[in-house]
Amino acid sequence: MIRIGIIGCGTIGSKIAGHIDRNLKGKAELVALSDKDLQSALKLAGSLRSRPRITDTDKLIKASGLVIEAASAGVSGDIARKAVRSGKDVMIMSTGGLLKGYKDIFALAEKSKARIYLPSGAICGLDGLKGAKRSKVRKVTLTTTKPPEGFSGAPYIVKNKIDLGQIRKDKVLFEGDAMEAMEGFPANINVAATLSICGIGPVDTKVRIIASPGAKRNVHEVEAEGDFGKLTARTENVPSPGNPKTSYMAVLSAIATLDGIMGKAKIGT
Ligand SMILES: NC(=O)c1ccc[n+]([C@@H]2O[C@H](COP(=O)([O-])OP(=O)(O)OC[C@H]3O[C@@H](n4cnc5c(N)ncnc54)[C@H](O)[C@@H]3O)[C@@H](O)[C@H]2O)c1
Repeated sequence: MIRIGIIGCGTIGSKIAGHIDRNLKGKAELVALSDKDLQSALKLAGSLRSRPRITDTDKLIKASGLVIEAASAGVSGDIARKAVRSGKDVMIMSTGGLLKGYKDIFALAEKSKARIYLPSGAICGLDGLKGAKRSKVRKVTLTTTKPPEGFSGAPYIVKNKIDLGQIRKDKVLFEGDAMEAMEGFPANINVAATLSICGIGPVDTKVRIIASPGAKRNVHEVEAEGDFGKLTARTENVPSPGNPKTSYMAVLSAIATLDGIMGKAKIGT
């Protein structure tokens, strides 16, 4: 029986909690919830059959065998560090918060024997990249295409005074490495971060961002080249019900990762 604590009771956290409550009886127990907005935690707790306690991050980590972070990139690095230092397994959704310190956190986990899980989230292709990395990988590129309004407020757009309303055909807004993309387009950071951490790191992973007035979905295209050959993985994401900023695939991927932790058969790389 895995004792699970969830930090962040929004779109992803709520779906995971519901899944544990409904489908993982006898395998997992939801023991604690935490959210900076108490009302979100209370609302989620009230919708569940189980009775998780609502508490702060430190107490949640203490009470859990597996900590699931679905809160924000501002706190995910700290949560990962604290959990693995205490020997607790941790699943991180806000992977952007790991980009600067992931090597240290992975080293801590080696020492404490804790496991770190980073779901694929809103992208596909990590399975191929993991295999490819066992030989030389020369190039990894992420191309993200969204409707222009999907980039509104991004620091890069504001700084360069780009008028998104004037874009009439597909326009490349940004090309650079994953670290630069993180600064300019923080809303895009999780996919770029997960891809970088899985593959060849944030400096060598290239990111291209395209505004497409005709786009109806957020599209992430991963391309990699190396000794294995070449791979292209394209994901056309629909928004999750209730939160247009989070792709439905990210929610599903988190649930599949949790099921994978408990399952005995591992399918795919
Ligand atoms: N890996 C991926 O591909 C991927 C995809 C989508 C979203 N995400 C990330 O996963 C996280 C959760 O996404 P979501 O759609 O559920 O977001 P959401 O906004 O629906 O919910 C986030 C919840 O976390 C809470 N929260 C925020 N900061 C917190 C903090 N410091 N401490 C405790 N609680 C805090 C909020 O109050 C909210 O209830 C986000 O950081 C998002 O960027 C990752």
